[in-house]
Amino acid sequence: MNAQQDPVQIVEVAPRDGFQAVEQFIPTHIKISVVEALIKAKYRRLEVGAFVSPKAIPQMADTAKIHAVLATKDSSSPVRLSALVPNAIGGQMALDAGVSDLVFVLSASESHNHSNVRRTVAESQGELEKIVAAGRQVDGFQLRVNIATVFDCPYEGRTPEKAVLDIIEHTLEMDIPVEFGLCDTTGRGFPDHVAALCGGLIDQHKSETMIGWAFHGHDTYGLGIGNALSAYNAGIRIFDAAAAGLGGCPFAPGASGNTASEDLIFTFENMGISTGVDLDKLLDAAALIDSLPDVDTGGHVRLLPRLRISG
Ligand code: COA
Ligand code: ZN
Repeated sequence: MNAQQDPVQIVEVAPRDGFQAVEQFIPTHIKISVVEALIKAKYRRLEVGAFVSPKAIPQMADTAKIHAVLATKDSSSPVRLSALVPNAIGGQMALDAGVSDLVFVLSASESHNHSNVRRTVAESQGELEKIVAAGRQVDGFQLRVNIATVFDCPYEGRTPEKAVLDIIEHTLEMDIPVEFGLCDTTGRGFPDHVAALCGGLIDQHKSETMIGWAFHGHDTYGLGIGNALSAYNAGIRIFDAAAAGLGGCPFAPGASGNTASEDLIFTFENMGISTGVDLDKLLDAAALIDSLPDVDTGGHVRLLPRLRISG
């Protein structure tokens, strides 16, 4: 094993990006059991559901209920539960439901933004301004801005860096602490592109004290781990991943599962990079996810005998 290196934080997104890709409605109590199994794996952050139109994604319709139930469970737990919001209405619904850790999504490409949230990028930025104005009034408000299609768009191909930079600059004008999620929505980011974009963005903003950077990868082409390592080497220390490799954007044709959390954690831990996640318990949660009807799971590590994983 290598010498200890900077630790990372893994944000578990199976209860949002994962579940949204499942067509058959997963009963609310099952979703809650999955979240609880993931919390047992000692995650510090989970993205749970989305305050989106139930017409766009029926699977997310019970998000407020899930957060309400989880809030009654263990208030001493240090876990942060966030939710995705696509517009100001969703942002307000989340805040009203007591969810103050928000993940706002917009895309670097106009075509994907339109397909995903039916707005121009400029209109989405207007929605974000309203969310920030509302969030400033709320104790504990935390903002992640997920920029989808930062590398590649299913409709427009390779995304120009300027499109990503413009969104970042516009957000920074709001003068509020923000974590940017650099999202490889289609999984067609390649390790050299990931290194160049992530490294460039971090370098250009190194004097900013209010920014965090996260990498959100998909494993559509088997590049999920390679891209995550490239992002790590470029300076990213926060990574989204989904247990059992569940996930995918219903508005990005051909895009499949997120990078499997257990593959990413297995890799980091064996490189001496601490994740804080209990891999054995995570494998239990991944098995639970894989047992659900109508799920399209992925990843490698969970298919091996446990002894070969820990040994
Ligand atoms: N949650 C729930 N309902 C919402 C909503 C939200 N975030 N935003 C709008 N609505 C409701 C409105 O109240 C309105 O209701 P009404 O018909 O009863 O009056 C209706 O939806 C239409 O509102 P409008 O603003 O015109 O929305 P839209 O039809 O243009 O859809 C989004 C825009 C963003 C709400 C929709 O495209 C969406 O939810 N997309 C989800 C994208 C997503 O989750 N992608 C995967 C993750 S990246
Ligand atoms: Zn995603």
